[in-house]
Parts: sequence; structure tokens; C-alpha cells
Amino acid sequence: MANALLIVIDGPAGAGKSTVARRLADHYGLPTLDTGAIYRALALMARERGVAWSDEEGLAALADELPLRFVAEPDAAQRVELAGRDVTAAIRTPEISEGASKVSAHPAVRRALLGIQRRLGAAGCVAEGRDLGSVVFPDAPFKFFLTADDRVRAARRLSELPAGLPLEQVLQDLQRRDERDQSRAAAPLVQAPDAVRVDSTGLDLDEVVSAIMAAVDGRQRAD
Ligand code: DC
Repeated sequence: MANALLIVIDGPAGAGKSTVARRLADHYGLPTLDTGAIYRALALMARERGVAWSDEEGLAALADELPLRFVAEPDAAQRVELAGRDVTAAIRTPEISEGASKVSAHPAVRRALLGIQRRLGAAGCVAEGRDLGSVVFPDAPFKFFLTADDRVRAARRLSELPAGLPLEQVLQDLQRRDERDQSRAAAPLVQAPDAVRVDSTGLDLDEVVSAIMAAVDGRQRAD
């Protein structure tokens, strides 16, 4: 991993990690790695195979052989394939968001998915998740923790979901997920001590991307 440029962005749901990661990846000519999609794919596969989201052992067995592939798409987010099937949209439903948060709380699941994340990120990427700076890529040279007020994050999530959902429900789902992601014993959502915190509440996308690029470029020049 010596010369691979690895930028990791952790933070709660709806902070804008995916959009920011894509912009940075375009700028630096790197692929993105959406680690949340891995937990989402596992939750979907478990549901389809009849494995309960509470069944740690059953989930870890599925995770060991997760037939997952990210396929680059020009000018778009990556396509996510599970056993050759396009599940890009199927893993984004509110139900699977909840499932991903539940399956990700099991230590055995997190252990099983560590290798796949490290393999996918090894050649350099802009990776986004919850525990990348703290656990998955502790040696990453560039770590950011992107956050924003709950209401701002819920409003952003709402705009990505099919019309008709009330903001209050999206906000409650998001807060429940935050609470679970932050309070789990195994690799909780936490800012790594050496991560740069970026609060995007009052910032637009360009401002967030510029702040992160300035930090990356400044450090690269200094090294
Ligand atoms: O980033 P996302 O909303 O797609 O992630 C879905 C869930 O996966 C999230 O609730 C927590 C979990 N997750 C995790 O525990 N660790 C990661 N590195 C990424 C996601």
C-alpha cells in the first residue's frame, strides 16, 4: 500500500460522504469504495436467504463468501452486483438501511468483512464508511470525519428517497441508526484521533470538497 493514495471519510448517515467521495475520486483519479454498500449487500442477501439480521453466526458465514462486485459506471455512482445481479437500487431502501445497521453491529460480521474492504482499498481509493480511520485503514494518510446537524442530514436523505416520506420519519430513522452505529461495542462510529473533522451544516458541496482538497494538497506539499 506504500504509494497508494488512500483518503478515508467516516461519518454518520446523510453527511454527504458519497457525493464528496465521488468528487474527490474524480479529482485525484482514484476509484471510490463505498463500504456501507458492503453491509447493505449482506443485509439484502441475508433477507433473501432467510438468515435473520440477529443471527450473528449465519451472517458471518454469508459474509465470508459474499459474492459482491463493484462495477465502475461512467459519470455515475458505481453499480453494485451480488452474484452477478444488479442490486444498486435494492440495497438503498429504508428497510435495507435498517438491516445494514443491524448486521453491522455484530463483531463476527465486521471481522468477516474486514478483509474484503482492505483488499478493495489496497491500490488506493477514496473510501467512505464509519470505522475506516479507526479500524479498517488505521494507517491511511488522509482521514476525514464528515458530519452535519441531524435535520440537515435528514433533509438531504429525504431528497434521495422516493417522494412521499415525511421528513420526521426520515429524521427518526436516521437518529435510530446513528444511535445504533455509535453505541455498538464493535468498531462504533467514532472520529479517529488523527482525522480532520468537517461539519457540512452550513457548507455547500463545493465548499466541503474544497476544504478537504486543501487539507490533502497542503499535507502532500508538506511531506
Ligand atoms: O453508509 P451507509 O448508510 O450506506 O451504511 C449502511 C450501514 O452500514 C450503516 O448504518 C452502518 C454500517 N456501516 C458500518 O458499520 N461500517 C462502515 N464502514 C460502513 C457502514
